[in-house]
Amino acid sequence: MNYDLNIFSSLDELSEYFTEVFGSLVNAAKEKFNLALSGGSTPKYIFNYLAAHDKTKVRWGKINVFWGDERCVPLIDNESNYKMAYETLLSKVPIIKENIFRIKGEANPLDEAIRYSNLLRAKVIVENNFPRFDFIMLGLGEDGHIASIFPNQMNLLASDKICQVAIHPESKQKRVTLTGEVINNARNVAFIVTGKAKSKIVNEILNKNINAAKYPAGFINPIDGNLIWLLDEDAASLLKGN
Ligand code: 6PG
Repeated sequence: MNYDLNIFSSLDELSEYFTEVFGSLVNAAKEKFNLALSGGSTPKYIFNYLAAHDKTKVRWGKINVFWGDERCVPLIDNESNYKMAYETLLSKVPIIKENIFRIKGEANPLDEAIRYSNLLRAKVIVENNFPRFDFIMLGLGEDGHIASIFPNQMNLLASDKICQVAIHPESKQKRVTLTGEVINNARNVAFIVTGKAKSKIVNEILNKNINAAKYPAGFINPIDGNLIWLLDEDAASLLKGN
């Protein structure tokens, strides 16, 4: 597994680096830039940072925005990943509203997984049988999940579908998520991880510990793309000395 590992002493430094990397990839793209956003608290921090610090440098007009996963809740629910991204970032930057393609959390999950799969097939270039995103942002769950692929549904990693319905193992909340093959087909995947609670999993994955195979995150390895890890010192704390 080839990856680029970056460790930061603060979330602001991490966000600044993310802004630079993301901005240069967007600006260098010849045509549309297909982006998949993540939910979660670290992405939320970065969205706020991006909105406050880079209104003009990033060529927002080139971006098509999609999501890696959505919780099956009404649009006004605070659990909605779309709502979070809209309030923190998308409503604040000059992104073209017609280029925002949300997963409808309020719809029937099975129908929505099919609708969103078809939408992605139509809007994002298809290579190796799957849409090829320019950039997928990923958080890491404390149980090793990515997007909404949880350890109890490892079958979603190798699914031949683009999107599937997932069920959160504890809350039983339904989600619609990209599958593992779509994530590994991206040009760039950024893992953004903060906090001590995730340090054990980060270490196991990056040091190829046998336990890595238990976590969906352990399978993320773009077939023909770049993998970037952005960690704070807490998340990286168990890596030191290895
Ligand atoms: C979601 C996410 C999920 C998230 C991780 C990390 O909708 O829940 O897309 O994969 O990124 O759970 O979340 P935190 O940054 O809040 O730990």
